[in-house]
Amino acid sequence: MTTWITICDTCKHEDWDAATGAQIDGEKLADLIEAANDGSVQTRRHSCLMGCDRACNVTIQAEGKLCYSLGNFDATPAAAQAIIDYAKLHQESTAGQVPYRSWPQEIKGHFVSRHPPLPVSK
Ligand code: FES
Repeated sequence: MTTWITICDTCKHEDWDAATGAQIDGEKLADLIEAANDGSVQTRRHSCLMGCDRACNVTIQAEGKLCYSLGNFDATPAAAQAIIDYAKLHQESTAGQVPYRSWPQEIKGHFVSRHPPLPVSK
């Protein structure tokens, strides 16, 4: 099952200043994640994942698997690569559980919540 990364493209760190014309932090992280993706996983952008105080935010999701919300990322190439690398491991997993020893270093400390898959409809 394909793993999707949803990137909040409206996240702004506290020091973001519209007056400077600087790129929005979430847009910058989305650009970096999309550039780092070799096509193994899918990405999409969404405006506000309701974790604004923890910018930047992403989710890692796949049908029938444990899904995750992550936050407090800086828009850096290292963070983007770690998000991609973790999503690939999530996709390779059976149930969405990636052993901690396999986690990319840059992903540690960013997990906010875990969402169990919905029951199969009867
Ligand atoms: S603006 Fe990114 S979570 Fe609200």
